[in-house]
Amino acid sequence: MAITVRLGTEADNPKIQDLVAKITMPGLAQMCFQRAPNFFVGSKVIGDEFIMTVADDSERPDVLAGLTVISGRDLFISGKKRRVYYSGDTRVDPSYRRLGIASSLIHAQKAFRTTEDLLQGIVLKENTAPLDAAAKTAEGVLFRYWISHTIETSFIFVRKSTPRIPEGVQIRQASAADVAAMQAFFDVEAPRRNGYPVYDFARMMAGDPYYAGLSIGDYALALRNGQIIGILGGWDQKAYKQTRIMGFKPWLAALRPVYNLYVALVGGFKLPAVGGMLNYLTLHTTLIANDDPAVYRALIDWIMAHQGQKYDALACAVTHGDPLENVPRGYKRQKLFSSNFWLSYGEDPRPSIDDRPLYAELARL
Ligand SMILES: CC(C)(COP(=O)(O)OP(=O)(O)OC[C@H]1O[C@@H](n2cnc3c(N)ncnc32)[C@H](O)[C@@H]1OP(=O)(O)O)[C@@H](O)C(=O)NCCC(=O)NCCS
Repeated sequence: MAITVRLGTEADNPKIQDLVAKITMPGLAQMCFQRAPNFFVGSKVIGDEFIMTVADDSERPDVLAGLTVISGRDLFISGKKRRVYYSGDTRVDPSYRRLGIASSLIHAQKAFRTTEDLLQGIVLKENTAPLDAAAKTAEGVLFRYWISHTIETSFIFVRKSTPRIPEGVQIRQASAADVAAMQAFFDVEAPRRNGYPVYDFARMMAGDPYYAGLSIGDYALALRNGQIIGILGGWDQKAYKQTRIMGFKPWLAALRPVYNLYVALVGGFKLPAVGGMLNYLTLHTTLIANDDPAVYRALIDWIMAHQGQKYDALACAVTHGDPLENVPRGYKRQKLFSSNFWLSYGEDPRPSIDDRPLYAELARL
């Protein structure tokens, strides 16, 4: 077998779909994070420019042995707009592992970056394999990485309940007439966190692919005396990003109908048949004036009572150290921990990143 690395293009999409489908998370239910039917729709939600490297096997032109992507997007860092390159989607076909393919794919991306660039990655806690693959190459250390924060993702179980809205606060769906006020609120609130994506609501309205599948009515606004004091959106990304069930342990397959009845009573994910997907709505664009937890909770409650009723769960991520971190913990939920890390091909980037809380936009990982 002779492995070569090159830049991937949209023509690779069918082979990318095959590769992605081969990689499942082990467990009672084997899950696959798919990006069907077009991988690149999801890539454009992660960043507005990307360098994808793919590995070919000369003996198997019908398959891709691996792929990885670095996506550029503008984030607020230390209060200012900065281009940050997100390294993600590293996937190597199980039958091609431990051959140095991930290392080669990451190595090939280096030609497109400078030693000044700030890179970011997020991995599930304990999954250091991709980091180790990046750090270890034939040339020694390729880039260095520094783990900075723990991100707590919550899948909040959707129930029927009345939103808990503080005295004097109104919550309603946003409309096109709110765009200017939303942008003004965003411009003040978003830079208070590091890693917040720079949003332009006018571009979202114009159908920019960075906001694929979103419309203005997917945002909820919290108002006091007619002024916006909070924004939260719901984003259904299933049209291009799915968590699909590929198989079950046999005993769980047999118990699935009973389990789903139980979940219908107490809340949680219903297990679809093999080939089906988990049904959740991702919360995004979290902006809360004065970090008031009651306003954040009111917005989550309100989305749950409206748009959220079509889903089993609402997914949100809050980083440890954020003043809002306790809000999702007040709900019945399933939780998942990940690590944020900064990467660099040059100097330690941390002195240029101050200590404001880190924001993780779950919908863009
Ligand atoms: C993680 C992954 C991309 C590694 O791909 P790979 O081509 O096998 O990695 P490499 O052969 O380049 O590994 C280089 C080094 O990384 C480390 N490494 C790679 N996989 C590892 C594993 N499963 N456990 C521990 N260390 C590992 C080792 O130090 C390895 O060097 P060695 O083989 O000489 O010991 C691959 O296992 C994969 O696709 N996993 C599932 C998807 C995933 O977790 N993606 C990351 C999320 S973005």
